[in-house]
Formats: sequence, C-alpha cells, structure tokens
Amino acid sequence: MATIQDFYSGRSVFLTGASGFLGKQVLEKLLRSCNVKNVYVLVRPKKGKTSQERKEELLKSKLFSTLKITKPHFSSQVILIAGEMTSPGMGLSEEDERTLREDVSVVIHSAASVNFMEKLRDAVVVNVIALREMLKFAKTLTKLESFVHISTAYVNCHKQFSPECIVKPLHDPHAIIAMLKNNTDEALEAQAQQLIRPWPNTYTFTKCLAEWLLQEEMGNLPVCIFRPSIIGASAEEPFRGWVDNFNAATGVCVGTGTGILTNIYGDQNMKADIVPVDYCANAIIALGWSTAIERSSKLPVFNFTSGQLNPVKWADFVYWIPTYFNQCPLEACTGYSTPSFSTNRLRYLLYVYGKDRVKMIFLDFLLRLKGKTPRLVRLHQRALKGSGVLEFFTSNEWNFESENIAAFIEKISAEDRMTFNFDIKTVKWAEYLIHYCEGIKEYAMKESMSLSSIERARKTQNRFAQQPRSYPGTDDFLYPG
Ligand SMILES: NC(=O)c1ccc[n+]([C@@H]2O[C@H](COP(=O)([O-])OP(=O)(O)OC[C@H]3O[C@@H](n4cnc5c(N)ncnc54)[C@H](OP(=O)(O)O)[C@@H]3O)[C@@H](O)[C@H]2O)c1
Repeated sequence: MATIQDFYSGRSVFLTGASGFLGKQVLEKLLRSCNVKNVYVLVRPKKGKTSQERKEELLKSKLFSTLKITKPHFSSQVILIAGEMTSPGMGLSEEDERTLREDVSVVIHSAASVNFMEKLRDAVVVNVIALREMLKFAKTLTKLESFVHISTAYVNCHKQFSPECIVKPLHDPHAIIAMLKNNTDEALEAQAQQLIRPWPNTYTFTKCLAEWLLQEEMGNLPVCIFRPSIIGASAEEPFRGWVDNFNAATGVCVGTGTGILTNIYGDQNMKADIVPVDYCANAIIALGWSTAIERSSKLPVFNFTSGQLNPVKWADFVYWIPTYFNQCPLEACTGYSTPSFSTNRLRYLLYVYGKDRVKMIFLDFLLRLKGKTPRLVRLHQRALKGSGVLEFFTSNEWNFESENIAAFIEKISAEDRMTFNFDIKTVKWAEYLIHYCEGIKEYAMKESMSLSSIERARKTQNRFAQQPRSYPGTDDFLYPG
C-alpha cells in the first residue's frame, strides 16, 4: 500500500467547512481513497435546518455518487459534530469534545467566510477568532499528528510577488480582535476601509491576520498552511467538471455563458490563476500526511497556484465559454455567448449598461407581456455583482512563489502521485475548460444533459438572437446536428 493511504488507514480526521465547495471534495476523497476510520464533520445549523439535516443533505450531493457504488455504507464513517465556529468553544457538546479528543489524528480547517464584501466584524469572527478557538481545541487532541490550515494565495495580494512564508500584517490580530470588543458595528464599519488598507477586501485582510495569529499561537502543534489561488471545477475526480456553486470564476462563466453578460472588466491577456478543486483536495490530504511525518520546526507554507507552473489566461475562458455554450446552451440562456474583456472602463460600462441591461429590460418586458415573471434584470444584476468580485483577479496578475509545492511533489512516491495527483502541470486547460462548462450545466445549474433538452435550449437560444457568424463555438463540433 502507498504511504499516504497507509498513514490515513484507521485514523480519524476532523474536518471543518465540509459543507463548502472545497471541504466536500476533501471529504469525498478521504472516504474514497484513504480508508479512514471516521471523518468528523463540523456542521452548523443554517436557514432553519438542523446540523443533522444539513449533514444528510450534504451526503446526498452528486459528488458522492461514485462512493455510493463503491462503498455503499460510507455515510456511517461521516460523524456529525454539530457546532458553530463563531461560538465559544466552537459550540461543541462535551460528549463530542471527548470523542474528538480521543480519536482525531488529523485536523483540516477549511471553514471560512469567503465573501469579499463581508463586514469587518463578521470576517474577523469567522476567519480569525474561530481559528484561535480551533487552535486552542486542537492542543487538547491527544492523538493529533497534523493540522492543515486552508488559507489563500491572496493573503499578500497588495504586492505583486507572493513568497511562501507568513506575511506580517500591518495590524496585530489581537489589536483587531480588541477593536471588535471596543467598537460598535457602525464605528467599526466607518473605519474598516481605512483599517484594511492596502488589502483590497476584508476577506484577504482577515486571512492574512489568521496566518499571523496561527504562527503566534500554534505552540508545538504540527501545522502547515495551504494557500490555493482561485478554486475551479474538478479536473478529474471523482468526475470531470464537478462544481456546485456560483462563486468567482464559475459565476462569471454562467453570466457570460447565458449571454446575460457580454463584457468583463480586465485584461484577457492576464493569467487566470485557477486551480482545480480535486487537485486542492489531493494536496491537502497529502499535506496532512507529510506534516505528521516531517514534524518541521518551521511553519511550512504551500502556495498552490497555476500561474507559474502551467499558466492559463482569461483569453482562454473567452474562447472556450462560447465554444461550449454556443453548442450546448444553458436552458437559462438569453442568446449566444459572446464574451469579451475591456480594459477601458467607459467601454465596459457601455457594454454592460448600454447593451446588456437594455436587452434584459426588453426581454423582461416580453416576459411580462406573456404573463411570466420578469427575472432577467435581476439575473443581470447578480451577474454584474459576480463579475465585480472577479474584477480584482481579471485586472491584476501575481507572481506566486511555487517552490515548496514543486519540491513536495518530488518527494511523493509514484504510486501516491497517481492516487493523489496535484501536479498542476498535468492540467490540460482546453480540456479542463470544456469540462468546467459541462460541469456548470450539469452540476451547478442541475440541467439535463440529454440531447432533447439541449435541442430545446438551442431553440431558446435561436429565438433570442441570431447566430453570430464568426464566433467560437458556432461550428458544430461538439454536438453535431
Ligand atoms: N473557493 C476559492 O476559490 C478559494 C480560494 C482560496 C482559498 N479558499 C479557502 O478555502 C476554504 C474553503 O473555501 P470554499 O470555497 O469551500 O468556501 P465555501 O464553499 O463558502 O465553504 C465555506 C465553509 O465554511 C463553513 N463555515 C463558514 N462559517 C462557518 C461558521 N460560522 N461555523 C461553521 N462553519 C462555517 C461553511 O459552512 P455553511 O455551509 O454552514 O455556511 C462552509 O462549509 C476557505 O478557507 C477559503 O478561504 C477558497
């Protein structure tokens, strides 16, 4: 048996953020490939659903469909830990605390608020204070061998070069935590923009604070930091193109794929630093093993990005999105997909308001005439919000140091590399982007992939607009006929 699997065999993992995009993928892979004893998942109650209901819902995700066949009883290894990261002691019951203390060997901390617009207080509470609670608790786990903290490659995003080491924030995390106590929400928000500068948003600011706090408070814990860039659909596992949210790049693919959005602000010649979610999960699991084995006295940091090792550009998205969606349209389409990029703000605004918004107002008017509920202006607003978030990534480019992850891959056995592939150089971007679009249609939008439903969507597409003559994807090469 290979070394990584050997390590996990019979051991238990405590995973936070399991209901999230990345956490779900880590959970699936641990259960499918690691022969773990148990995976304890911290799930909070949300939107009127109990933690138990949410755990059951999580395991119904299509992501687990392979497991349902290969390990039909896998759900018995997923143990619910009802909690709330922002409560004292993470809201754990005494009994759960005891169980975790006696059984957990690896902690994977993925829970976070990834909302760029989060209020400063909320972002600090989830991304910094909750990590402190987690560290305090991890120190009481008698069998703990490794702790993987999920950060982001953008902790240092106000600088063009991002080294693989902890960046000193301009403010002490404890001082920021104290500010939360001493200020009302209004007072805090009034200072927030000034306080977080030069970080562009509360997300990257608090993730940076969290790393510093981790370094200060980890004590003797065997910890490592994993920093992915923008996480996209899966490249290979458990199937290609799996994605179930509309965050960042995915949301903009939907907006431009439906034809609701025709322009994105940014430079298409810049690198799109995307990394597949399954590669991230494999790397995290491998780091859980290596952190336990190596017991480094330093806190190892791993940037996990594609820009340096196997770059893809936004221009590739602009090519492959229409190539796919003009052949295999989304049912929610409003015509053909014709995305472009603008580096000129005025040109961009003319596109999104002068062209797209006017078209959506007109289409909503037609819907009203037909007695249907108008929805396109609302969808356009949502798409614009998504592309507004992505603007930060489409109009900047970073140089992420990638030595540590490259050296780490070299250390892994050939067998482990096959089972836990995270070598970004092996991603073939053209194939990846086609499967990404397919995954958006099938898993995120939950649309049927039958030929008849694709034909129906094509009719809708043609009803809305004339086929553009010279645009990628208008040649029938994907689904002829
Ligand atoms: N997605 C990316 O492009 C990206 C890029 C770089 C780094 N990362 C990092 O990767 C990690 C996972 O991100 P993701 O994309 O999977 O985000 P996500 O889909 O938004 O998932 C976030 C997870 O955190 C949980 N969580 C948030 N607040 C919580 C609380 N108060 N108590 C308990 N659980 C809470 C969420 O639970 P609920 O379901 O209950 O909300 C969810 O399971 C984060 O640390 C993020 O910073 C993500």
